[in-house]
Amino acid sequence: MKLTKQIQTAVKVLENSGLVAFPTETVYGLGADANNEVALRKIFAVKERPLNHPLIVHLARLEQMVDWAKNIPPAALLLGQIFWPGPLTLVLNKQSGVLDLLTGGQKTIALRVPRHPIAQKLLQAFDRGIAAPSANKFTHISPTTAAAVFEELDDEVDLILDGGDCEVGLESTILDLSTEKPTILRPGMISAQAIEHALGTAVYYANGEPTSRAPGMHHLHYAPRTKTILIETSDIVPLLVLLKKENLPAALLINSEMELPAIEGLDVIKMSQDAEHYAHDLYFTLRELDHQHYRQIFIENVPQGEAWVAIHDRLKKASFSPKHSTSL
Ligand code: TXA
Ligand code: MG
Repeated sequence: MKLTKQIQTAVKVLENSGLVAFPTETVYGLGADANNEVALRKIFAVKERPLNHPLIVHLARLEQMVDWAKNIPPAALLLGQIFWPGPLTLVLNKQSGVLDLLTGGQKTIALRVPRHPIAQKLLQAFDRGIAAPSANKFTHISPTTAAAVFEELDDEVDLILDGGDCEVGLESTILDLSTEKPTILRPGMISAQAIEHALGTAVYYANGEPTSRAPGMHHLHYAPRTKTILIETSDIVPLLVLLKKENLPAALLINSEMELPAIEGLDVIKMSQDAEHYAHDLYFTLRELDHQHYRQIFIENVPQGEAWVAIHDRLKKASFSPKHSTSL
């Protein structure tokens, strides 16, 4: 089917309270009409997601912000102008009339203008807000290809728009502008520093916030089903020495330049040393490894620094800490 025809079909599905999975530049979203309570309930049912986890409303353009938010601070306009369309979500005070189901009963609403051409075409054709969490079951890895959406949701979604693999590969940066201090609720590939630079003021990380306001800080979020362990570079050689037969076969993701001896049953996967490439490949790689019946997946920790913050955040969520694990 041609793209324009597919978009027309997708709009009809949305108008009839259906669900459309669509590509964004971050990950695939599971979309529903953000003004339709019946459709929104389907999102929660299909994802098996608790109702108090609010959704992001996707918009075609910045000007639609006023339909969803009030008391909009100048910072929102500025960041929207600089980073939209793109992988930044802004949390603002919600406009009256916004459905409670979207916001988890909170007074704030999360908004984002994605830049993937198919997301843009869909949003322009629908011309209203589309609520879209990542198109995976609650706590699973977000899908970065149409095949991964199919694997997660199969016939529980009315239509999947295939836009190839997602350019960024990690979920958007979420910035809360509803309070005095701009606060990052979820790090993404738009860094705190890039936002600080744009605003000319400090940006904060949300430490110690309750999970409903600190998304993605949920224990074991974005996790592969295979037991996954994050290890420091200096622990890799000791790990190889101590690796027991019952823990094999295993996979080891490394990103440093290490020459490791071949060990039967251990597959070593070299990840990129460039943060953007690493982010692009991470979920895809974890999903592939999850299919391989490994007993464990070991992941070498990534470097420190601004470019790696979001990746480090996702790795921590995908893994157990070896300090709490006795089965190395
Ligand atoms: O990149 C993305 O953001 C992707 C694509 C599809 O746009 N979407 C995504 O949605 O990651 P989801 O639902 O998987 O994650 C959205 C996060 C949730 O953890 C939720 O708690 C948080 O956004 N959120 C939504 N509304 C919020 C609000 N009003 N205040 C605080 N956090 C909010
Ligand atoms: Mg998600």
